[in-house]
Amino acid sequence: MIGLQDLSVGQVSGMIAAAVFFLQIVIPIALPIILLGALRLRSSNVTATAVSWSVIGRSLHSSLWPHFLQTDSVATLSTSKSIASISFFGALTTALIAVTAIVTPLGLYESIASRDDPKSEPFHYVQDISPMGLGTPPRTNMTWSRICGGFFPVACPNTQSDITQFTNASGTYVHADWYDSHIPSHVVEVFQSGLSMFSGSVSSFFDIQYRSSTKAKKPRIPDYVIIDNGTAQSIGSYRPLSSLLLSDAIQPVEGLVVDMKNGGIGFRNHSAPAWRPYGSTWTEDLLFVEPETVCVDTNLTLDFIVSTTEESMMDLSGISNLVLTDRGGFVNINHTYPRWEKENVQERPDLWQRAYKAAWLNNAITMAYMNVTNPSNETTGVKAFQYLNSSIGRRFRLHKEDGTTATNLVIEPSTLKASSAYGEYLQGTEGLSNYSATSNTTYDFPSEPPLYPNPYNMDISQGFFDALTLCSGSGGRDYANYTNTVALCGTFLSLLFDPGSSWTLPIIKTVSFRFNGSDDDKTYPDEASKPLWGVEHYDLNLTDVVPLWGLVTPESAATLNLSTLRKESLYLPGYGSALGGGMLTQNLPGQDFASQALSKVFSIPAISATGDIDYSGSSNLAMYRLWQDLSRNATSAGRILSLIWTDIAANMVLGTRGLHPADDTPLRKRDASPAAGTDTPTITTYERRVRYRYAYGIPAFLTLLVTASILLTTSGLMLFGSAGPSHMRLFLDHTSAGRFLTAQQAGYGQAIPVETKAWVSSVGRQRFTLGSHGPKSEPELRSLLDGGYMGPGNEDKTRPRSCHCHLSTKRNPFRVSSGLWHMLFVGE
Ligand SMILES: *[C@@H]1O[C@H](CO)[C@@H](O)[C@H](O)[C@H]1NC(C)=O
Ligand SMILES: *[C@@H]1O[C@H](CO)[C@@H](O)[C@H](O)[C@H]1NC(C)=O
Ligand SMILES: *[C@@H]1O[C@H](CO)[C@@H](O)[C@H](O)[C@H]1NC(C)=O
Ligand SMILES: *[C@@H]1O[C@H](CO)[C@@H](O)[C@H](O)[C@H]1NC(C)=O
Ligand SMILES: *[C@@H]1O[C@H](CO)[C@@H](O)[C@H](O)[C@H]1NC(C)=O
Ligand SMILES: *[C@@H]1O[C@H](CO)[C@@H](O)[C@H](O)[C@H]1NC(C)=O
Ligand SMILES: *[C@@H]1O[C@H](CO)[C@@H](O)[C@H](O)[C@H]1NC(C)=O
Ligand SMILES: *[C@@H]1O[C@H](CO)[C@@H](O)[C@H](O)[C@H]1NC(C)=O
Ligand SMILES: *[C@@H]1O[C@H](CO)[C@@H](O)[C@H](O)[C@H]1NC(C)=O
Ligand SMILES: *[C@@H]1O[C@H](CO)[C@@H](O)[C@H](O)[C@H]1NC(C)=O
Ligand SMILES: *[C@@H]1O[C@H](CO)[C@@H](O)[C@H](O)[C@H]1NC(C)=O
Ligand SMILES: *[C@@H]1O[C@H](CO)[C@@H](O)[C@H](O)[C@H]1NC(C)=O
Repeated sequence: MIGLQDLSVGQVSGMIAAAVFFLQIVIPIALPIILLGALRLRSSNVTATAVSWSVIGRSLHSSLWPHFLQTDSVATLSTSKSIASISFFGALTTALIAVTAIVTPLGLYESIASRDDPKSEPFHYVQDISPMGLGTPPRTNMTWSRICGGFFPVACPNTQSDITQFTNASGTYVHADWYDSHIPSHVVEVFQSGLSMFSGSVSSFFDIQYRSSTKAKKPRIPDYVIIDNGTAQSIGSYRPLSSLLLSDAIQPVEGLVVDMKNGGIGFRNHSAPAWRPYGSTWTEDLLFVEPETVCVDTNLTLDFIVSTTEESMMDLSGISNLVLTDRGGFVNINHTYPRWEKENVQERPDLWQRAYKAAWLNNAITMAYMNVTNPSNETTGVKAFQYLNSSIGRRFRLHKEDGTTATNLVIEPSTLKASSAYGEYLQGTEGLSNYSATSNTTYDFPSEPPLYPNPYNMDISQGFFDALTLCSGSGGRDYANYTNTVALCGTFLSLLFDPGSSWTLPIIKTVSFRFNGSDDDKTYPDEASKPLWGVEHYDLNLTDVVPLWGLVTPESAATLNLSTLRKESLYLPGYGSALGGGMLTQNLPGQDFASQALSKVFSIPAISATGDIDYSGSSNLAMYRLWQDLSRNATSAGRILSLIWTDIAANMVLGTRGLHPADDTPLRKRDASPAAGTDTPTITTYERRVRYRYAYGIPAFLTLLVTASILLTTSGLMLFGSAGPSHMRLFLDHTSAGRFLTAQQAGYGQAIPVETKAWVSSVGRQRFTLGSHGPKSEPELRSLLDGGYMGPGNEDKTRPRSCHCHLSTKRNPFRVSSGLWHMLFVGE
């Protein structure tokens, strides 16, 4: 049923107009009936004065009754053509006006529309009242710190630490008088210098801060090197505030724009122009960090039985009879070793190639280990894949005789599992011997035979680790330059199936980081307007030095040892490792956060569950369902990891730069950039507007045309024709019923005044009876009626109403009010 709330204002106006129109029809039909009642029609003869008859005639003829009863005044056949067409045209016009009144408001509607005059407006900081905003501590003027050296401390580039390292027979020694972790301000300025080319909203390396941080007193690496003479230092801390993962939206939070549709965070202060009731839009260029994920199906599954009852609980996680099933991963393996040459990673990261290579190696190593096939042997010249003992659906046992799981891989049903390791399902199947050949001792426990003979002595730990490194593309011993980018590979198990017998799907994937300095639609007109990225370039191991990166200008880049790249986006330099970056030793979030978040993605479910958000889906049914949906194929499975990365990164870092006027905290060293707040974008604001659908205006337009033509004709006739007011008066008087009656009565030769007042006072008060016998004047009637009738001679001319009363019957309840009604008619 349609309620009032479903109707628009225009529709309601149309309905009101229709109702008014209905009343306008009904009341003029009803009132003549009341008039007839007031005439006290006891017989068909009624007596009234001539002037009353004029008024009565007008009332009756101007109503719709002549049309209903098809009386003389609507006879069209015998009247002249022009009169008939004018009265037809009049009826048509009336109908048209009625339609116009009803239809015209229907076209009205309201909408929120943009104002046509976009203009610049100052931005101001808006407090974010979401959990993310409330939980973010206020910014403090902490200082950046950078600590280099993986195993032994190394002086960071451009710093003045006094470190000497020497090796003698008893080992390597490091001597350091003092270690300075500060980043010189000229280095900071170089990595921020490129911002002068962009609007004030774009961030660079040193605009990224940890969402929460702690002060660490005298951190040392190792114990004998004292950093910054032992002063306390700020370091980042990951304290998740709230998960945005299920929002499926691009939303701004304190310090960021979080894209939970495709994954990615954009750095910006939570600032906005003045509040508008209907919102405003503007565009901002932002620095975005987006994860790129590619998954390749290994075409192997892990199948197991989930025990649902207590008794059949086979191990802690309640699964038994774990097998690896060949779904094409073994039997259809491509016999060509996949190649991926690491060159020009910034231009062609080839993520799929890398993920595929890792998946291929994972399968090939497993096959050799399980003697499904043979590996190649350079000494004997035997080629790989001489035999292949598998078929689709073939199961390879990963459980002991009693059904308990033989691998170290912990499988929890209803849990998503991602790990930066390959072949975890084989770890633990090598068996356990109670005899050690190196120490020539036998230990006091029963040895376990290996599950598989491993005839080619595959070193699975090393083999799978190599697969991981090859896929990630760079390891700790690669050099600090832009060729080596942050990427991490791993296995992704989705165990999201309902209890009963179920299976899982390990998917190999690669994550790599792209630094997209542009917003969705940002296109650069030419090569020179693209961002210039500067990346530190050193022949130092990545474990020792992770390069800084940032937006630079060519002049400032020349002052430091930088390589520059002019392109839309940059893959973040560094390397992915399961341990993440140096979040806990230094305060350099721009360098560490991506790999830190990446390492957290590949340790799901989280090992240290305290405080971490559970992304496995086991404690959140909504997430569980989302993962179930997305893990159906390898392409969408990549999104899972991108979203998790985004959520972790959003909880870890924020951006400080915005279009609002800067308040100067010492961290924000951006004297080289234009003052923030001066180059605000143009803002389109929205307002509520009444609008019109023009189709509904057609009747109004027609009415306008008709009205215009009528007015034109009228004024033409009034100016040049014979249709002046005097003619009008003449015809009005001549067609008045009372005049007919008095003219008939007077006979020829008698002068009857033309002017209305004079006519009324001379003959207009003569009484006539109309009815089936035709008009009769009162003297004629006197003989017809009883003697009690008061004749004109006795009529008191000053009090006409008293004689009127005489005619009435006292029982007539309308007597008193009849005069009033009459007045209404006259007045109309
Ligand atoms: C931080 O700012 C406060 C107030 O402006 C100042 O007193 C303090 O010395 C600053 N600390 C650092 C480390 O710059
Ligand atoms: C190596 O150097 C350390 C530190 O100077 C010293 O203590 C140690 O005796 C040296 N060892 C040899 C074998 O010289
Ligand atoms: C540490 O102390 C040394 C000498 O005492 C001094 O030269 C240096 O500037 C100090 N470093 C810091 C970071 O305070
Ligand atoms: C798994 O099968 C799909 C489809 O047949 C194929 O594209 C993919 O390369 C296979 N994966 C591996 C590791 O061979
Ligand atoms: C096997 O891989 C090679 C290159 O790695 C490719 O050229 C070839 O088409 C692949 N064969 C099949 C059957 O997919
Ligand atoms: C190659 O085959 C020889 C002889 O069977 C064997 O000794 C050697 O270990 C094999 N090499 C590899 C890498 O498997
Ligand atoms: C191990 O020890 C036994 C007896 O203690 C000795 O006979 C044997 O030679 C040893 N084997 C090796 C490889 O050292
Ligand atoms: C070593 O393991 C074997 C096989 O399980 C067993 O027979 C033997 O008793 C064990 N030795 C010791 C000392 O436990
Ligand atoms: C490995 O498989 C091949 C081919 O089926 C077979 O000849 C060989 O005996 C197997 N090796 C072992 C150790 O089972
Ligand atoms: C970066 O370092 C790697 C070694 O890790 C080297 O192969 C590569 O050529 C270097 N890239 C550049 C641009 O110098
Ligand atoms: C940067 O991101 C935008 C939007 O996601 C995309 O259209 C563009 O291709 C990206 N640039 C590069 C070089 O990937
Ligand atoms: C954003 O700017 C406001 C005003 O300058 C400041 O108080 C706030 O801390 C900034 N937020 C971040 C995340 O930098």
